[in-house]
Amino acid sequence: MSRRCGRTAALLLLLTAIPIALLFSIERSASGYKYSGGGWFHECAKWDASADRFLVSTFTSGTIGEITIGTGSELEEKTVVSDADVAGNWSLGIAIDRRRKRLLVVYADVLGLTYGGVAAYDLGSWERRFLIQLAGKGGEKSFADDVAVDEDGNSYITDAKANKIWKVGLNGELLSVIRK
Ligand SMILES: *[C@@H]1O[C@H](CO)[C@@H](O)[C@H](O)[C@H]1NC(C)=O
Repeated sequence: MSRRCGRTAALLLLLTAIPIALLFSIERSASGYKYSGGGWFHECAKWDASADRFLVSTFTSGTIGEITIGTGSELEEKTVVSDADVAGNWSLGIAIDRRRKRLLVVYADVLGLTYGGVAAYDLGSWERRFLIQLAGKGGEKSFADDVAVDEDGNSYITDAKANKIWKVGLNGELLSVIRK
């Protein structure tokens, strides 16, 4: 290795060490809950007060996990939704519809952008109430990303690629597309 290369390598090492050191200090100073669970990255977390738990989307694994606040210091994550009908897609935004006791979940093929959809699951039995496809092959390139729900149970899903919002009705019917 030439001197120049050696210096470049040292500089690279230093540059990568900075964010790593930052991460460590954040980890140490944060007073939060620690738990071990599946996957390597979690996209969205919501507190479900009705059952004293966090619900999380596990991103690349495409599932939904439940984290219950117990008495131990280390918490375990339990998978509550692993929907075979959208296998291969990633789970992204989630929203709790308290009135109807259900969880809305956005799924998308993040790498290929060939699929995007939203589903609703019962917060108790985890039975699926609906699954609707919003984006697919051949249509406009879309990236279904996050979801919000209104008082009447309509859900609004953001398209982070084509700058629009899908409005989906109570029972999973596509009502309209909101554009700027
Ligand atoms: C996403 O789910 C759809 C609907 O079932 C499926 O056709 C598609 O193959 C899935 N995408 C990937 C990347 O697996």
